[in-house]
Amino acid sequence: MELFRKKSLDYLKRQATGKKGLRKAMGAFDLTMLGVGAVIGTGIFVLTGVVAAENAGPAIILSFIFSGLACAFAALCYSEFASMIPASGSAYTYSYATFGELIAWILGWDLILEYGLACAVVASGWSAYFQELIRGFGIQLPAWISGAYNPAKGAYVDILAVAIVFILSLVLMTGVKQSSRINDIMVVVKISVVVLFIIVGAFYVKPSNWSPFMPFGFGGVMQGAATAFLAYIGFDAVSSASEEVRNPQRNMPIGILSSLGICMILYVAVSVVLTGMVPYTKLGVGDPVAFALRFVHQDWVAGFVSLGAILGITTVLFVMMYGQTRLFFAISRDGLLPKGISKLTEKTKTPTRCILLTWLMATVFSAVIPLNELAELTNIGTLFAFIVVSIGVPVLRITRPKIKRNFRVPLVPVVSILAIVSCGYLMVNLSQTTWIRFAVWFAFGLVIYFAYGYRHSEIGILRRSAKPDELVKE
Ligand code: ALA
Repeated sequence: MELFRKKSLDYLKRQATGKKGLRKAMGAFDLTMLGVGAVIGTGIFVLTGVVAAENAGPAIILSFIFSGLACAFAALCYSEFASMIPASGSAYTYSYATFGELIAWILGWDLILEYGLACAVVASGWSAYFQELIRGFGIQLPAWISGAYNPAKGAYVDILAVAIVFILSLVLMTGVKQSSRINDIMVVVKISVVVLFIIVGAFYVKPSNWSPFMPFGFGGVMQGAATAFLAYIGFDAVSSASEEVRNPQRNMPIGILSSLGICMILYVAVSVVLTGMVPYTKLGVGDPVAFALRFVHQDWVAGFVSLGAILGITTVLFVMMYGQTRLFFAISRDGLLPKGISKLTEKTKTPTRCILLTWLMATVFSAVIPLNELAELTNIGTLFAFIVVSIGVPVLRITRPKIKRNFRVPLVPVVSILAIVSCGYLMVNLSQTTWIRFAVWFAFGLVIYFAYGYRHSEIGILRRSAKPDELVKE
C-alpha cells in the first residue's frame, strides 16, 4: 500500500553519505559521557521541586525509579535499531524502514513536537536558575518579563528563556557542533554540583520531613513519574552514535544503561536529600535545588550549584536544539515537508531554515506555556515514540530477519513488552489537557501529510519513476 511505502536499508545507507567512513573510536566510557551530558538538566534541577510539591511528595524517589526503568527498557530497543540503521533522524528514520511512510511521518511530526517542547522546557529551567542567581546580586527582573504568559500573576513573557534560545540559535548558525571535550567538561561540572548538593544537603536532612511519605497516594507517585520522566530524555543521543562505536554489541548497551543508571542514582539521591531538607510543600519553586541550600543558609553553596546548573542546562539545550534541526532536515529531505527547508547555507554548510524553525518553535513555546505543562506535553510525545520503537523491534525481527544487527535486545519480545507497558502506563497518567493538545497536534499533522507530504514524498516520486527497484534492495 502506498501509505506504508518503506525505505530499504540500502537506500538509508546511501542517504547517510555524510556519515561514511567515521572512525570507530568510541568505547563504553565515551558513550556514557555522551548520555549523561545530554540527559542531566532541567528535569533534576527544576522539575523535581514541582513534582514533589504537587504530585508525589517525598515519594518522588519512587517516581524517579519507575520512570528510569521504563526508559531502560525503551533504551535497549533504541539500541537495536541504532545498531542496524546508521542514519540520522532517530526514531523517525527507524520507523520509515519498519512501518512505512505514514507511521514515519506521524512519528516525525511527534518528534518535532517533542524536541520543540523539550527546547522550551529546558530554556524555561535555564531562565529560572538564572533569575535566582542574579537575584543573589540584587537584580530582579520586572514581573511581566519573568515568566511564561500568565496575566493573573502579571507575567507575559519569559524573556531570559527567549534570550538563551536566540543566542544558541546564532551559535548553531555558525555550524559548530558540541565538541566531545566541552561535553566532558560539562559532565564533570554537572556531576560535581549534584554531588556537592548531596553531600552538603545530607547534613541538614530531618527525617520528619519524609513523613507523610506518599501524601498524594500511589496515583500521585505515578503522575509524578509521568512528569519526572522528562529528566531522562536525551539518552537517544547515545544510540545515534552507533556508527562510531567499537564493538557496539558490547559497548552500546553498556553506554546506554550506565548513563541511565548514573542518572537514576543521582536523581534518587537528590530526591532523598531534597525532600529531607525542606518540607515538600515548600518545593514548588523555580530552582528547588538551590532553594533548599538557601533554606538551610548555605548561600555560597547555593550560588555554586546554580552556576553549575546553568552551565549544565545550557549543554542540554544545545543538544536538543541541534536534534530538532536534524529532524527538520531529515523530514524535509524526504519531501514530507517542503524541500526548501533543508537547503544548506553555502558558507557555513548549516541548514539555516531548519535552525530558524527550531528557534521559532522554542521561542513561542517557552514564552507562553508554563514549565510543567510543557514538560507533560514533551513527555507524551517522547513516550509515544518509545512505544513505536519498542513495537518495531520484534516486528522487524520477523519481517526482516536477515539484516545485520550489531546489537540485539536480549529476551525479545519480553523486553519490548515491558517497554510498551511501562511507557504506556506513564502516558495514561498524564493529564487530560495534555492528551487533548497531543490529539490536536496529531490531527494537524495528518492534514499536512495528506495535503502535502503524500504527494511530494521522495520515496513516492521514486516509486512512480523508472527506477522503483532502487527501493527494494536490502
Ligand atoms: N533530560 C533533559 C533535562 O532534564 C531534557 O533537561
